[in-house]
Amino acid sequence: MKKIDRRRFLNDVCPAIAISMISSGFLESCSKGGDDENISASLNTDQANESLGYIVKDNVVEIDLNHPAFAELNSERWMNFAAQQVLLLKISESSYRAFTNSCPHQGVRNSWSYNQSEIRFVFSRHGNSYPSDCTSSGTTGNILECYTTSVTGQKLQITKL
Ligand code: FES
Repeated sequence: MKKIDRRRFLNDVCPAIAISMISSGFLESCSKGGDDENISASLNTDQANESLGYIVKDNVVEIDLNHPAFAELNSERWMNFAAQQVLLLKISESSYRAFTNSCPHQGVRNSWSYNQSEIRFVFSRHGNSYPSDCTSSGTTGNILECYTTSVTGQKLQITKL
């Protein structure tokens, strides 16, 4: 049997054991604690958008109606909220409608206008238009997809499908 020098063994093996013990201690301490819940909660909401006047959580978009980014919605009574691909329509101070901004004709998302007298969205590219009542068909025979909305105070929530 080969003899091993005790001092040499300790010098060679102990640092590796010490490092592995310290590493596992670090890994364990990283996985403990209540911070994990806070991290996952903040990931569910896109906090970066809060400064832009809205937040997104799953399929719900919540808009701060007082934010300057949505001033057009108050003044024009409609806007193309391109960042979330939604057309917004103000019915009254406490009632709003929201629609996809994807034109049923070819899926293009810009070039919208709103005809107040005919209460319909008009797409200038090919001249098709869609009633804003969430039930009537437009000139292509399609209904412009409508989302559920609710207003609480100055917050408008849109639930996308
Ligand atoms: S893409 Fe909208 S009218 Fe053609």
